[in-house]
Amino acid sequence: MADDDSRAGIRYADPSIVRYCDDAHAALDSGLLAAFSAPKQTGIPAIMVGKSEGRLLNLLVRLSGAKRAVEVGTLAGFSALQIARSLPKDGHLWTIENEPLHADVARQNIVDDGLGDRVEIVLADGPQGLAQIAPNGPFDLVFLDADKERYDVYAHWAIENLRPGGLILVDNAYFFGQLLDETDEAAAVRAMHVYVAAHCDSVCIPTPDGLVLGIKRS
Ligand code: DHB
Ligand code: MG
Repeated sequence: MADDDSRAGIRYADPSIVRYCDDAHAALDSGLLAAFSAPKQTGIPAIMVGKSEGRLLNLLVRLSGAKRAVEVGTLAGFSALQIARSLPKDGHLWTIENEPLHADVARQNIVDDGLGDRVEIVLADGPQGLAQIAPNGPFDLVFLDADKERYDVYAHWAIENLRPGGLILVDNAYFFGQLLDETDEAAAVRAMHVYVAAHCDSVCIPTPDGLVLGIKRS
C-alpha cells in the first residue's frame, strides 16, 4: 500500500498534518515568531522557509558544527536566526539581501534576538555580495534561498568557497513545482542540482518545495 506511493512522491501530509508536526517539533518562540510574522506586518513577501524547514536548518548547523556560514536571501531574517542561533559564540553568518527594507526588518529581528554580533547583513545583489564576502572564506555552510534564475551561479560560488566537507543547502529545489519547465529559471535550478550532485554527496530532501543538502567532496 503506502510504500510504493510514498517512494513515487505521493504525499500523505495535508495542511492539518503539517501544522500538527510543526507544532509538535518546531513551535516558534517569540524571537522566531517576530521574524516569521514580519512579512505580514510589513508588506514584504511571505516567502520564508516553513517552520519545520527552519528548524531543520537550525539542527543541521548544530549537527555539522559549522562556524562560518553564508546565506543568500535574508528576507526578514527567519532562516538567518535559525542558522545563527546554532553557531558557536565566535561563529559568524554573512547574509546577503538586496532590498533595503528587508535588510532593515531582518537587522531589527536579529538584534532583538541578541545575535547582532554574530550576523552581518550584506546589502547587495547576490553575486556582488558574494564577491564581497569571499575573502572571509572558506566557509563551513552556504544556504541558498534567493532568486532562482541565478541558482546555478550561486551553486558554483558555494562549491568554490566551501571547505571540503562543508555543507550546501538550497531551498525551493522543486522551484514551486516548475522544476521541469522549459524556462531559463527552471534550467538554472536544474543546473544547480546537477552541479551540486557533481561536487557533493547530496540529496534533495522532499520538503514541500524540496531542500537540497550536499556535503562537498574532498
Ligand atoms: C524568491 C525567493 C525565494 O526564496 C522564494 O521562496 C520565493 C521567491 C525570489 O527571489 O523571487
Ligand atoms: Mg525560498
